[in-house]
Amino acid sequence: MFYYLYELALTRAITKKSYQLVGSPVQLLPKSILNLIYAFRCSHVMKTGLSQNPTKPFQVIRDDGSILVLPPDLLEELSSIPGQIASPNEALEHDLLGPYTGLNLIIESRLHHSIVQRKLTPRLSLLTPELEKELVSAVEDIIPSCDDWTEVKMYQLLGKVSARMAARALVGPSLCRNKVWLDISVNYTEDHFYTIVILRLFPGWMRPVLCYLLPFYWKGKYHMRKAKNLLGPKLTELIRQNDAGQWSPDNKKKEDAHVLAWMIDTAKGDDRNVDTLAHLEVLLALASVYTTLLRMVNVLYDLTAKPEYFALLEQEIKTEAKNGWSPSSYANLHKLDSVLRESQRISPPTTLGMKRKFKTNYTFANGLHIPKDSYVCMPTHQSCQ
Ligand code: HEM
Repeated sequence: MFYYLYELALTRAITKKSYQLVGSPVQLLPKSILNLIYAFRCSHVMKTGLSQNPTKPFQVIRDDGSILVLPPDLLEELSSIPGQIASPNEALEHDLLGPYTGLNLIIESRLHHSIVQRKLTPRLSLLTPELEKELVSAVEDIIPSCDDWTEVKMYQLLGKVSARMAARALVGPSLCRNKVWLDISVNYTEDHFYTIVILRLFPGWMRPVLCYLLPFYWKGKYHMRKAKNLLGPKLTELIRQNDAGQWSPDNKKKEDAHVLAWMIDTAKGDDRNVDTLAHLEVLLALASVYTTLLRMVNVLYDLTAKPEYFALLEQEIKTEAKNGWSPSSYANLHKLDSVLRESQRISPPTTLGMKRKFKTNYTFANGLHIPKDSYVCMPTHQSCQ
């Protein structure tokens, strides 16, 4: 009873007076109960909030405090606020429970982010034929042709295909079919997401003890240790050669087109450490394998619901292939592009988007004041329905 009243007082203190509180069936409930309502009914809570406040912010209480959900018309201004004021990394690290999942490294090191932006994306035309080859080989290995109708779980098969392609981009040709790496790149994410989902159901003060009781937490740690052991020798050797001026990635060589090589060539200071680089590789696998898998599966389901599109897409790809396939051919697949975009619009990767943690006070052009340490987001999923 004492704890209930204590939590109620705490919840009252964090509730902002100026915004409607959504997700609470009565005037006010303790935050651990509001947290459970949010965990099980997030989509419904956001839908209700948005329908009652189409142009105004509203708030939702989770165990970690009040989150302010902004209306869609602030999207442009929110996306233009620099990271030093409204940090997406800190919001992501906060949501994915950085200290328990190893995600806290993304606050200390931004190397993975700059490698994706400055090395991987500009070199996609060099890497794309390699990814195509890996895709063909992965499909042959994982989804072999069969003579009759065969029941399969596409989610599981495409998970392996996605891991193979991500591995080609992240660890390069020598390791991309390594069973240990492929296992880590799928299972680290899965185990950590179980850890996150379970821990977030409980009050923050319980987590430092509760995590030790979760097998997923230990499995996540085990995957990370395995990744460091696996990538360690290669990283050590390449760093040695790079330091001695004997090796650096050749921009024209497809074998050198992978994140591991670019990281070694770029990492400085604290980042130039074998464990840190292996850790960042695992975090990139976390960012890429399941997101790509979910996109593949969603597109497949959306197309299955509209089978008339299959012939249109097939025709578009065949026409383009007749002109000779090259990395630039993808830019001409307009119908496929709109299917991918539309599928992503109706089933985005996360229910909430544009998550930001404010590191200073900020006032929007419309006068909306956001105090330092606020967590804000947008109901991307519901806005797109
Ligand atoms: C269809 C596939 C993908 C989708 C839908 C997707 C979606 C997202 C989303 C929503 C975020 C923001 C996370 C948040 O704030 O909640 C994000 C961040 C990020 N993604 Fe992706 N992603 C995809 C593929 C990839 C791939 C292939 C890579 C790397 C090769 C990648 C690397 C990253 C990185 C580095 C971040 C930022 C993490 C940080 O700030 O430290 N993503 N992605």
